[in-house]
Amino acid sequence: MSTIRLTVLASGNGSNFKAILDAIESDELDAEILLLVTNTANCGAAQKAIKAHIPVCTCSLKSSGGRTRQFEIMSKAITESKSDLLVLAGFNLILPTQIVTQFENKIINIHPSLLPSFSGGMSPQPQKAALEGGVKVSGCTVHLVTEELDAGPIIAQRAVAVHHCDTVDSLANRILKEEHIVLPQVIKWFSEGRVCISDGRVSIRNTE
Ligand code: GAR
Repeated sequence: MSTIRLTVLASGNGSNFKAILDAIESDELDAEILLLVTNTANCGAAQKAIKAHIPVCTCSLKSSGGRTRQFEIMSKAITESKSDLLVLAGFNLILPTQIVTQFENKIINIHPSLLPSFSGGMSPQPQKAALEGGVKVSGCTVHLVTEELDAGPIIAQRAVAVHHCDTVDSLANRILKEEHIVLPQVIKWFSEGRVCISDGRVSIRNTE
């Protein structure tokens, strides 16, 4: 099995980006991050990428000169990277249809809730909605990206208990710990060619 080539798209702190980097560095994951795409200059993810000598494509709305140009820059960088998999790790922009179509079944996203509950919105909105909904269990979901927001086939989920005394921050942090496990795990399944997609459902093939 050859090394899986990744483009990671992120807008925030980049703790999930770091979890992928750590899994690669510890040889748990046979992957290479070719590119980080961000729409937020100097965000934590961009700083972590620079530190790790990973090329960064920054295309903020302002620096790009408008939405159309922003998507053109992003699309060109992603296409030229020749990645096997695009990983949305806290990316707060909805991808244009053209990229979603071009990379069908090759884009994954991590979302901080047990989808289909609390879909839409960026962290910490889903965690806040979970607290307000009074649920006793929440968690995170890794799913394939389709044109419908947060509605693509689910690949993996991890649950956490929601405590009576939880704040949005405490719940978000508990969920993040699980995100850092499940995201590298799902990328590993892709690298091993174990992700099967059939009739809009995902299953993971067993190893021999
Ligand atoms: C994570 O909690 C991720 O699930 C969430 O953004 C956070 C990014 O954290 N994604 C979404 O809300 C997508 N709708 P990070 O920058 O520390 O990886």
